[in-house]
Amino acid sequence: MSGSMRMASSVAWPCLAVVVAVAALMIGLVAPAEARKEGKQSIGYYELRRGEFSIVVTNWGATILSVNLPDKNGKIDDVVLGYKKIGSYVNDTTYFGALVGRVANRIAGGRFTVKGQPYHTYKNDGNNTLHGGHRGFNQVFWSVRERVTGQFPYITFYYRSYDGEQGFPGALDVLVTYKIDGDDSYSVTMYARPVDKPTPVNLAQHTYWNLRGHGNGTILDHAVQIFASAVTPVDADLIPTGAVTPVAGTPFDFRTPAAPGAHIADVPGGYDINYVLDGEADGQGVRKVAVVSEATSGRVLELWSDQPGVQFYTGNFLKGDEGKGGAHYVKHGGLCLETQDFPDALHNPKFPAEIYRKGQVYKHYMLYKFSLAN
Ligand SMILES: *[C@@H]1O[C@H](CO)[C@@H](O)[C@H](O)[C@H]1NC(C)=O
Ligand SMILES: *[C@@H]1O[C@H](CO)[C@@H](O)[C@H](O)[C@H]1NC(C)=O
Ligand SMILES: *[C@@H]1O[C@H](CO)[C@@H](O)[C@H](O)[C@H]1NC(C)=O
Repeated sequence: MSGSMRMASSVAWPCLAVVVAVAALMIGLVAPAEARKEGKQSIGYYELRRGEFSIVVTNWGATILSVNLPDKNGKIDDVVLGYKKIGSYVNDTTYFGALVGRVANRIAGGRFTVKGQPYHTYKNDGNNTLHGGHRGFNQVFWSVRERVTGQFPYITFYYRSYDGEQGFPGALDVLVTYKIDGDDSYSVTMYARPVDKPTPVNLAQHTYWNLRGHGNGTILDHAVQIFASAVTPVDADLIPTGAVTPVAGTPFDFRTPAAPGAHIADVPGGYDINYVLDGEADGQGVRKVAVVSEATSGRVLELWSDQPGVQFYTGNFLKGDEGKGGAHYVKHGGLCLETQDFPDALHNPKFPAEIYRKGQVYKHYMLYKFSLAN
């Protein structure tokens, strides 16, 4: 039951410029009661734009609220699912656009040991801890550490998680940068650093995509390609069994582009599983993770990352949830590609280790590139 330690990391903690005072871009949303009660902490909305491509993020949960880009006819749509009011993100269990942690995905039984010391984390998913517990990183205020405008705008959010938060050991410093890196592309770079005790860390970005535009039907007809030859199968509670199984000849094979709808009937509940990415699996190299395209809009999304796994989720628990602009998100109305370390690695010694100690730096990089199909 004891997770193994990470090898000494060569990743450096980033040096950031002095905090820039920021005037929040108000886009007519209402701060939740919790925000107002906190007094000093308030909600900010930050738009990053380059030409017609823009994303909007907030410091509540370091959440992505929208990603806007043209289709092949020049019509701009928001292609990520989200709520109209920020208050709807409080206590939300869909994780729309959320930055999840301290440990993304499930921890079996909500317990683990580090250096012989037992820990119990908040069980918010039956007997398991999901996405860091009831008050994970998606349910806290982050502060703005740095904001840069101009050609390649970015924003860095900072959060100090305290010792014992949701049951996790030790304080943890976390930085997340959203940056427009080029035309129609943005990156998410996450860093975490234990302040005192060793702790598991596994962050993920939980944006739901619908390339036709959020609320415009299901993603079952999108073409999805995932560069992975194996998955980590799960039990009925979605806990990995520890096996690593080839996708060849199964409904999980997306090595060549396929519609999720083609074989979803053979996947009880719909897709919600971790793929073992091909190529280097030590989390160092950046590689192509997935390509998603949608024929009627012509939009194509390419995802690159340095992580060993990606959770492919087809919005199985959506049930007409009301979203932005009066949209309703039907079952399979969005898909998630959450790059990550393998789920429940704390209980699977064969999975890449996810425990970091003081002096080690966790890094997770994601690059999203958009284009239009010919
Ligand atoms: C969120 O849940 C807490 C209890 O855990 C409750 O006190 C609070 O009112 C809820 N907030 C919203 C906006 O639903
Ligand atoms: C939690 O685990 C206990 C003991 O294994 C079991 O009896 C109970 O049904 C489980 N609860 C859920 C919600 O899975
Ligand atoms: C839904 O997507 C189709 C195909 O791109 C587009 O023609 C239509 O305008 C979209 N509907 C809405 C409500 O945006």
